[in-house]
Amino acid sequence: MEKLAIFIAKGGTGKTTTAVSLAAGLSADGQRVVLVDTDPQGGISSYFSIESTGGLTELLDGKEARLVRVRPNLVVIPSGDGSLGEQSLRLSGPIEQTDLFQRLFAELHDTDFVIFDCSPLLNAITQGVLAYADHVLIPVSMDYLSAVTAVNTVNAINSLSAAERPKILGILPTFYDRRTRISRVILRMLRDHFGDLVMETIIRTNTQINEAPSFKKTIFEFAKFSYGSADYSSLLDEVELRLKRG
Ligand SMILES: Nc1ncnc2c1ncn2[C@@H]1O[C@H](COP(=O)(O)OP(=O)(O)O)[C@@H](O)[C@H]1O
Ligand SMILES: [Mg+2]
Repeated sequence: MEKLAIFIAKGGTGKTTTAVSLAAGLSADGQRVVLVDTDPQGGISSYFSIESTGGLTELLDGKEARLVRVRPNLVVIPSGDGSLGEQSLRLSGPIEQTDLFQRLFAELHDTDFVIFDCSPLLNAITQGVLAYADHVLIPVSMDYLSAVTAVNTVNAINSLSAAERPKILGILPTFYDRRTRISRVILRMLRDHFGDLVMETIIRTNTQINEAPSFKKTIFEFAKFSYGSADYSSLLDEVELRLKRG
């Protein structure tokens, strides 16, 4: 079972979109995927228009979590009743979380991929996810503040202890618009600073990606022949390639 977290310490860079698109693409390829929403804002629940309660918060309270099948090979664990942020403050630390995830997923024998959609806060919940995950993917939008946050996020991840640190699968440029100078400048900055850590795949700004959630559809279902669909398909290939390389 591969455990992948989607995280950067900033909102609005395409984390939820990337988590949903990867989960959708992998599950359509026949992989059995569990998508876990660890953001109290519940973006995944909104995306698929499902009830958010009965998820992670309830699990942390020792209750059963709801596993919501949203597509044939795709199950969602919602973030819960919205109090994940407060719960995070009560946790003793990431290890408590890791134990929880280990117990939870020990029961999900027939899962190939677990994808965690993180909140932008590096709180105990997120630290637990990072400790449990094998890899982290970092979506960075093409603006200066996101690029700075990417540097800070990579530093924060690298300063975690070996047991709590996932491998960085890649830094994913998002909201790329080739007509703007800033997109080209930021991409160059990232490539100069991070080298091969930056994915070859670039997610371009695309209206259909923005519209898809309002139709409760993934980008592949909503606009199969869009830029967005093409970009997330290449991301899928590159993720699988990078995982194979180890
Ligand atoms: N490549 C893109 N082109 C256009 N809109 C996008 C793209 N990626 C994400 N969006 C939209 O931008 C908003 C923020 O994206 P989201 O994935 O929710 O970010 P995060 O989870 O990092 O906060 C959403 O409305 C989403 O539909
Ligand atoms: Mg989100």
